[in-house]
Amino acid sequence: MQATTLPPALNLQSWNLDQVLDDLNEFGFALIDDIYSLDYVQTLANECTSHLAEFRAAGIQNGVVSHIRSDHILWIDGQLPIAQQHLQTLEHLSQALNQAFYLGIKEVEAHFACYNAGEFYALHRDNPQQKNDRMISTVFYLHESWQEDWGGQLRLQDKLGQWHIIQPQPNRLAIFQSDVLHEVLLSKQQRLSITAWLRSGGSIWNG
Ligand code: OGA
Ligand code: MN
Repeated sequence: MQATTLPPALNLQSWNLDQVLDDLNEFGFALIDDIYSLDYVQTLANECTSHLAEFRAAGIQNGVVSHIRSDHILWIDGQLPIAQQHLQTLEHLSQALNQAFYLGIKEVEAHFACYNAGEFYALHRDNPQQKNDRMISTVFYLHESWQEDWGGQLRLQDKLGQWHIIQPQPNRLAIFQSDVLHEVLLSKQQRLSITAWLRSGGSIWNG
């Protein structure tokens, strides 16, 4: 399949879209490292941290349940122009996914997330029993640095039942089917990210 053209403003490093599609198909998840220029990641981190006072405790369907998740989030809208550029990348990725897997993705919905020391998100699926229209989940990590002993890993079960521990490495994009089981292990440092869902507006995942 043809690689899609990505927004030049981001100075995207080249990444292997075919590999991403293959991994998603085989395992239900894929990683892209060093996806953006460091300038962009820095600018995005500044946009995120300058709004931290507006972040709110994250909810689960009907409200805040702090024993399930304790992070704080800020939904991304037109007031956050740097984050919007990341959403543009995800729109291009959605086109490629639609062409490859006929997912019918129509929208991208996203929030910043901040896990302070001691915070986590217990085992869950973003689309349990296909109850919503989230097809693909993506998480982009934007803190300046990360060390393995800081915790905060994304732990995820692939389509074949195998578990993976994914470090929240800066400038890494994790992409996975929204119906796979995953969790965020307790973080010992401030961990900054953008979670985004590629949504179909109605249809369901058959993968
Ligand atoms: C989520 C989530 C994983 C991560 O926001 O639903 O599972 O690594 N995030 O931040
Ligand atoms: Mn999740």
